[in-house]
Amino acid sequence: MVKKLSQHLWIKRKETDKYFFSAKAYGYRARSAYKLIEINNKFKILKKNMIVADLGAAPGSWSQILAETLFIKNKNCNSKIYAIDIEIIEPIENVIVFKKDISNFIAENSLIKENSLDLVLSDMAPKATGHRFTDQIRASDLAEKAVYFAQKYLSFKGSFVCKLLGANTNDTLIKDIKKQYKEVKLFKPKSSMKDSKEIYLVCLGFNNLQ
Ligand SMILES: C[S@@+](CC[C@H](N)C(=O)[O-])C[C@H]1O[C@@H](n2cnc3c(N)ncnc32)[C@H](O)[C@@H]1O
Repeated sequence: MVKKLSQHLWIKRKETDKYFFSAKAYGYRARSAYKLIEINNKFKILKKNMIVADLGAAPGSWSQILAETLFIKNKNCNSKIYAIDIEIIEPIENVIVFKKDISNFIAENSLIKENSLDLVLSDMAPKATGHRFTDQIRASDLAEKAVYFAQKYLSFKGSFVCKLLGANTNDTLIKDIKKQYKEVKLFKPKSSMKDSKEIYLVCLGFNNLQ
């Protein structure tokens, strides 16, 4: 009964969600596309000829935005886009896909050159269990992995964007990150559901000192 009611509310919310309709109309695989658009509009993280990793990329809407911004809008482009997820990502032109758990990707160690990326994006999220505390712990664990990934693969002055589930629960992580980047901001895009605890950490100017 409770599940049926929440499913009903979820469908109802979708029916009135302008981002959901817009994503459908423009052929984006998820409404999340608008979160990256908003982050980029505010922080101008996407630049010509950059090498980017998109962590937790399935179904692929952030990679679609990356491909569109870096390749379609720029001729003679030298950008590279890596998309990583445990789930299948249907092919996207100009995107190199790795179907891998982020931990295995890091452990394999030879798939991307260290300190070679200009931008690391992480929209990784665990499958929701419905148990808030468990979900939060799993989300924090993924955020920590993303931080480690960025530390390993970003080049000097690179940028890092990471989804967090609640900023307060990630205080220590944020404190640590502030030692690694020139500028660290929290940002809640308008397209992020108001009742969701999701917030994005936007880190600019990696110092590569750790
Ligand atoms: C909110 S979705 C990402 C949506 C994506 N940014 C888009 O625009 O299409 C979160 C993704 O994180 C992925 N994920 C969760 N745990 C992961 C892990 N350990 N390694 C890699 N990806 C993971 C999930 O499979 C899921 O596809």
